[in-house]
Amino acid sequence: MIDLHCHILPGLDDGASDLDDSAAMAEQAELNGVTQICATPHIRHDHDVRIAEIADRVDALNAALANLGRQTRILTGGEVAESIVEHLDDSELRAVSLGGGGRWVLLEPAPGPLSDGLGAAVRGLERRGFRSLIAHPERHLGLDLFERLGALTRAGALVQVTAATMVDHAAAVGMLQLARAGVVHVLGSDAHSAKIGRPVDIAIGLEPLWEVDFLTPHIEWIVHQAPAAIVRGDDVEPPYRPLT
Ligand SMILES: [Fe+2]
Repeated sequence: MIDLHCHILPGLDDGASDLDDSAAMAEQAELNGVTQICATPHIRHDHDVRIAEIADRVDALNAALANLGRQTRILTGGEVAESIVEHLDDSELRAVSLGGGGRWVLLEPAPGPLSDGLGAAVRGLERRGFRSLIAHPERHLGLDLFERLGALTRAGALVQVTAATMVDHAAAVGMLQLARAGVVHVLGSDAHSAKIGRPVDIAIGLEPLWEVDFLTPHIEWIVHQAPAAIVRGDDVEPPYRPLT
């Protein structure tokens, strides 16, 4: 499996504290069947992440993990805030694209209810040849979330759900509703550390998806085909449509 959302680069944003932590996260990944991880440091005004350094940091982490005998491979990426995405130039967008595929940008919506600004960001990326993978729908559970995610999906975006929220006490009911509405496309761990919080685990979020009848023929697409296409930079069309 491929984890499309993980803060595994050491000592950079609010993710892994140091190389030991990154290595422990890579071990979690191996134990949970995750073979590739997109490193997605925050590209946001409150984190000092230099986009030009990401590729070298990923190379260094891969070399260190190989030295430690870890099999997990780290790919480039970034979690780009809605508020900053329009200020990135095309080469910066390519540098933070998931897997370095040059096509898919992991987009973090602004806090609060989803606004028209997110749609503008998705359309702006599309005009520049990029597609949006929208993160953290669980932060925006509200009356208009379903309709807005449906519209964004029809505009070419896909939705990435934090796997642990599918089974989280507070969010699980809402997330299952999202899945039933046809606006859950891929899972990511959004793990920040092996010491605290969510583990590097995708499978944890799958069980509830098997409860959604129309999704069951598409679990393989959700878990394998779509993430692989995203990191290759391919166009991806979901095999099911939003119901909202
Ligand atoms: Fe994140």
